[in-house]
Amino acid sequence: MDYSTKYLGFTLQNPIVVASSGLTQNADKIKACEDAGAGAVVMKSLFEEQIRQQDLGLQESAMMHTEAMEYLQADLEMLYGSRDYLQVIEKAKKSVKIPVIASINCYTSKWWLDYAEQIAAAGADALELNVYIFPFTTEKSGAELEDNYIEILKSVKDKVKLPVTFKISPYFTSFGHFATRLAANGANGLVLFNRFIQPEIDTKKMKSQVKGMFNDPVGFYNTLRWIGLLSGKLKLDLAASGNIKEANDVVKQLLAGAAVVQLASVLYTEGLEKIKKILTGLETWMKEKNFNSIQEFKGKLNQINDTQSMAFIRSQYIKTIAGVD
Ligand SMILES: Cc1cc2nc3c(=O)[nH]c(=O)nc-3n(C[C@H](O)[C@H](O)[C@H](O)COP(=O)(O)O)c2cc1C
Repeated sequence: MDYSTKYLGFTLQNPIVVASSGLTQNADKIKACEDAGAGAVVMKSLFEEQIRQQDLGLQESAMMHTEAMEYLQADLEMLYGSRDYLQVIEKAKKSVKIPVIASINCYTSKWWLDYAEQIAAAGADALELNVYIFPFTTEKSGAELEDNYIEILKSVKDKVKLPVTFKISPYFTSFGHFATRLAANGANGLVLFNRFIQPEIDTKKMKSQVKGMFNDPVGFYNTLRWIGLLSGKLKLDLAASGNIKEANDVVKQLLAGAAVVQLASVLYTEGLEKIKKILTGLETWMKEKNFNSIQEFKGKLNQINDTQSMAFIRSQYIKTIAGVD
């Protein structure tokens, strides 16, 4: 049985990728993912915001006391703040054979580029750009925001030779058009979709707070829709992400056209051993359907191959379709 799949120019032994999260935050954890059977890992993101917040003690060590030096300090911390991350890449690359995909989340264009270069030099196999420009402002149009994403992509592609994949949110008005632009501007892959921390309100304490989510069934189906709609149409690889928990979920995303699936929450709640269970379930399904390799069924039910199906483009409840009024 051949579970291999091609992703970002690599042949992965299977399509299970551990998503960017605390599960991949150091070299030992990355090795544990490989031992558990993962086909690849995406490292925890290097967050520009986090580096800016951490106190590296540079002010004292460099004896920066003047106002001018204080002004420079922020940039110095950015310069050295990525050191630990780069060391994780170097150590992980020595201990595992599976591809190690680094991930960065920045909001200042200078640091996107510098980090991308440093990560490439440290030996990462590919780079996932975790980009979310939150539209706080009422001034910027959707088109302008999309242009920002494209600029980030183009400048990173100009700077590094690594395969670059884009992990984005589903919050784009004309997602197919935007995805096509990303492909045309050199993205090698798309991860659909990122999931964010959401706001919550504690009505007892009358306080707002943030809420992490390990469960988002809607996200799964939105991913399935866009993988099914885009697969075979863009010159890039698609990674499905969002509430993928069982072997059957993996089969669905592969049938829709995903090259790989990324898992986070289920591995937090059920442990890394879940990877083997999912692979066993995948094998059972493939045997039942007489498939010997993933290539035989990848994208079999996407919109291009399953021309009669309206499932990916239907969104409204009409009785004949949904069976309910
Ligand atoms: C605890 C935790 C930490 C995460 N950290 C990151 C991160 O650093 N970068 C990133 O791109 N995504 C991060 N994610 C998002 C996951 O990679 C994934 O896209 C999302 O959780 C949806 O997949 P899931 O339903 O399998 O959890 C994180 C998710 C969790 C649960």
